[in-house]
Amino acid sequence: MPVVVDPDPAAVGNLLEAMPDGAHGIDSPDRLTAWLGEHTDEYLVLLGPHLDLDLALATCETLRTGRPTISVVLARDSIDAGLLARAMKAGARDVVPDDDLDAVAAAANRAHQLHVALRGPVGVAHRGKVVTVFSPKGGVGKTTMAVNLALSLADRGARRVCLVDLDLAFGDVAITLQLFPSHTIEHAVGAEDTLDASMVGPLLTRHQESVMVLAAPSQPDVRERITPGLVARVLATLRETFDWVVVDTAPAFDEPTLAALDETDECVVVATLDVPTLKNVRVALETLDVLGIARGHRHLLLNRADEAVGIGPEKVEAILGLAVATQVATSVDIAAATNAGTPIVCGKPDHPSSAAIRDLAAQLAGQPAVPAGAGSEEQAAPVAGRRFRIRR
Ligand SMILES: Nc1ncnc2c1ncn2[C@@H]1O[C@H](COP(=O)(O)OP(=O)(O)OP(=O)(O)O)[C@@H](O)[C@H]1O
Ligand SMILES: [Mg+2]
Repeated sequence: MPVVVDPDPAAVGNLLEAMPDGAHGIDSPDRLTAWLGEHTDEYLVLLGPHLDLDLALATCETLRTGRPTISVVLARDSIDAGLLARAMKAGARDVVPDDDLDAVAAAANRAHQLHVALRGPVGVAHRGKVVTVFSPKGGVGKTTMAVNLALSLADRGARRVCLVDLDLAFGDVAITLQLFPSHTIEHAVGAEDTLDASMVGPLLTRHQESVMVLAAPSQPDVRERITPGLVARVLATLRETFDWVVVDTAPAFDEPTLAALDETDECVVVATLDVPTLKNVRVALETLDVLGIARGHRHLLLNRADEAVGIGPEKVEAILGLAVATQVATSVDIAAATNAGTPIVCGKPDHPSSAAIRDLAAQLAGQPAVPAGAGSEEQAAPVAGRRFRIRR
């Protein structure tokens, strides 16, 4: 899918309007390299007007020899013969005015035609993964972890991630990210049988860190109109274009949650170190067993995993029969980050909690863990980021 590169989020949003459904936006050529590493079938890179021209031309030059099947298009605010000559020499396929969206769309179309001619029209259907963040208990940190996990999986634009707020009555994903959505899942009501990528795209709100959000309705009573069939269709549609679909849920086995769990590839179960929560999580895991959901694909996230409460991670693993995938200590920085609207993995990437969440993202993505920034004094915190396995 085409990728737009520009440091200005407004320019990215504008240029994406001219791109086909599923196009992606990132803020720097540095993240472009990461994106192309994950997406070997990429066919179009659109370099936006706020990129320094020399950097844009250097990027063209690198792709010309490194990835010759990719069409590189420059969108600039002023175009003259000198620029055209330099762009063509560097290997750009097109140079278009950034404010002429028809010209941008036509360039994208030409790139797609070339792609089809080179590779043929038959491609393997894209199937991203759905990861549901779930806990039967309220207030344990599901939303906080879902938001930070989505941002970690996105890896600043290297992967395309959609975060879906399925806490349909009281969802707070949008406010946690300081987004003000003009559309929500409410606008898909009635589209159980017809929803496709072109319909769901306009319902998403873009976060500056390249994550798209499908927000919960603004009024709680709308929940009644969102059927399990619609939830299933929304998630199935989103996984056609996104690499990861992260789902935040309400603290219950309600119908939308069950529909999401049915579509789920990986389930992140959030628990805290208190007996009532552990009892309820255990019952929930047994229910998932009965329903045959995500067996072998469950990841236990211990939140507020502080040592002084009398229950340690080994005991939790014994109670739940599930290895702790990652644990996050209680930290005032997490609550402060939520209140500031800048999730901790963005605001404090070197914080141990950020490292612990990135570690979970790396486990999900099947990659080695990314170490936290060396030398941070916060890394001395005793529990975050440690891993435990059940001893048999
Ligand atoms: N490890 C932590 N340390 C400190 N504060 C935390 C931690 N995890 C979550 N919080 C805070 O706890 C509050 C509740 O978290 P959150 O909204 O993520 O829980 P939730 O499980 O989604 O709740 P609900 O069930 O109501 O949807 C938030 O203010 C959040 O900032
Ligand atoms: Mg929540």
